[in-house]
Amino acid sequence: MPSILAVVNQKGGVGKTTTSVNVAAALAQSGQRVLLVDLDPQGNATMGSGVDKRTLARTVYHVLLGLGDLTGARTRADKGGYDLVPANRELAGAEVELVELPGRETRLKGALAPVAGEYDYILIDCPPSLSLLTVNALTAAQRVLIPMQCEYYALEGLSDLVGTIKRVRANLNPQLEIAGLLRTMYDPRNTLSQQVSQQLEAHFGTKVYKTVVPRNVRLAEAPSYGVPAVLWDAASKGAQAYLALAAEILAGEKSMGAAA
Ligand SMILES: Nc1ncnc2c1ncn2[C@@H]1O[C@H](COP(=O)(O)OP(=O)(O)O)[C@@H](O)[C@H]1O
Ligand SMILES: [Mg+2]
Repeated sequence: MPSILAVVNQKGGVGKTTTSVNVAAALAQSGQRVLLVDLDPQGNATMGSGVDKRTLARTVYHVLLGLGDLTGARTRADKGGYDLVPANRELAGAEVELVELPGRETRLKGALAPVAGEYDYILIDCPPSLSLLTVNALTAAQRVLIPMQCEYYALEGLSDLVGTIKRVRANLNPQLEIAGLLRTMYDPRNTLSQQVSQQLEAHFGTKVYKTVVPRNVRLAEAPSYGVPAVLWDAASKGAQAYLALAAEILAGEKSMGAAA
């Protein structure tokens, strides 16, 4: 069975999509079979994977609403070396339409079940909200990867997210746990960043990934070429950080396996 990771933070612009796309490509590069699910109507993970969101007949929207199965929407991110369930703005309507449907929180989980055996990792790139879409991701996942910028309000947002994770755990998905907190767009010269980073380590201990992703322009440029930065400029500091993060994720799985 694959390891299913939801990449979640209700704040926009914290690096969820950058993390999803680059970790997907880095894991694929190390021989893992990877599926990336774009669960954001903005479709940034789709575009960043080199798939044009404007030309798609079938997306994750159809999958969630039961209008088609996942294999009909799935496509290949050729450069990244992983499979993709794409999204576009159509998905914005799903939020309202899902409310009426049975099993509205478990639709993604149900859709992933038939293909789960084909993958080692399934990554879910979530929208910037704690909406029904994000609840679907948290219900389908075993673990949550939380990218965050080290700024003052980051900690406040984190308690809302932890609350949502606890509610999903209590009602829908008892096995759900936090995989790790990822410090993104880190600027070591900024004193506040350093302080928040230290607070994170103090509060969350080993749940904070050792890898820190620096602010790096190559990470921001890569999406406009439709290529993950780990492939576009593998030597860049940003790419190196995501390659290190993928190695950390793989090592964590191994040690969890050893403990079980
Ligand atoms: N480490 C980084 N350094 C520089 N720019 C980054 C970095 N991570 C993300 N970005 C850029 O910041 C913006 C927001 O990142 P994104 O991954 O789309 O966040 P989210 O998915 O959480 O909204 C994008 O333009 C992205 O290219
Ligand atoms: Mg995003």
